[in-house]
Amino acid sequence: MSKFDLRGKNVLITGASSGIGKELAECFAKEGSNLFLGCHPSEKDTLEGWADQLQDKYAVKTATFPIDLSQEKGPENLHEAVRKSVSKIDVLVNNAGILAYGNFHEIPLERQELMIKVNAIAYFKLMRLFLPEMIAAKEGRILNVASAAAFQPTAFHAIYGGTKAFVQSLSEAVNQEIKGTGVKIFTLNPSYTDTPILKSGGFPEKVWWYKISGFSDPAVIARKAIKAFKEEKAVYIPGMINWFVHSILIRFVPRRLTNAISYWGLRARG
Ligand SMILES: NC(=O)c1ccc[n+]([C@@H]2O[C@H](COP(=O)([O-])OP(=O)(O)OC[C@H]3O[C@@H](n4cnc5c(N)ncnc54)[C@H](OP(=O)(O)O)[C@@H]3O)[C@@H](O)[C@H]2O)c1
Repeated sequence: MSKFDLRGKNVLITGASSGIGKELAECFAKEGSNLFLGCHPSEKDTLEGWADQLQDKYAVKTATFPIDLSQEKGPENLHEAVRKSVSKIDVLVNNAGILAYGNFHEIPLERQELMIKVNAIAYFKLMRLFLPEMIAAKEGRILNVASAAAFQPTAFHAIYGGTKAFVQSLSEAVNQEIKGTGVKIFTLNPSYTDTPILKSGGFPEKVWWYKISGFSDPAVIARKAIKAFKEEKAVYIPGMINWFVHSILIRFVPRRLTNAISYWGLRARG
């Protein structure tokens, strides 16, 4: 178990207005952490309402930052705004993400580029901006919300899977580089979870893979994620079947076959 006590720690979570990020905010509040919550500017009121509820219920400090991470200086602006309001961030949770489903050659190019900006560039920049301060403090944690999609090609959301594979590789490589500094980087790799992202970007009502992965509740994913975070699991895939498929089975199945199975599973189901 970690010696990293979350009580009184300052935790920054991006994309905290809904889904997994919203539930993670409550889990960190339950641990006694102060919350610095980011969201898309369109969700400003929703996030402020959620932050007030958490502050009243758990007696923690909260602050909100409605900043668009897809803007060229979005991550830099978030870093600056947060640092103006608090002397240091102890835990960075990179969580904000978007999705687009369909054939690669048909999804609008602007949407694909936006996805790379939010899911990959914002993650890398926020890591790059907060990590030196954590290393100087000899303490800190980064939790990157990647996906089970990070481990194999994902037909029909090829760019999405590509951004998650990027975050996975980046997280693991940098975590290795900074061993001994007191800072650690973890990834959370959920499979399909019932949140607004799956009702956006042309994602079908169901895909065949749900029969294997199941369809998780974001509150359950967040609870399990915090437990894994406290146990310092570097890569955490919630659910036994998902863990077995994406962590074990994948090593024994040829890449070509994995890709074909993934293609089969990610097709829309009636
Ligand atoms: N749901 C799943 O099946 C699943 C599975 C594996 C991994 N994940 C990952 O989990 C993370 C959280 O997603 P979720 O499932 O909880 O979906 P969600 O409820 O849609 O959460 C995504 C959050 O990111 C925010 N966001 C999007 N674009 C942004 C931007 N340009 N600037 C700032 N914030 C922005 C969203 O704000 P708006 O609502 O205003 O757009 C929202 O709060 C994502 O990284 C996703 O890829 C999800």
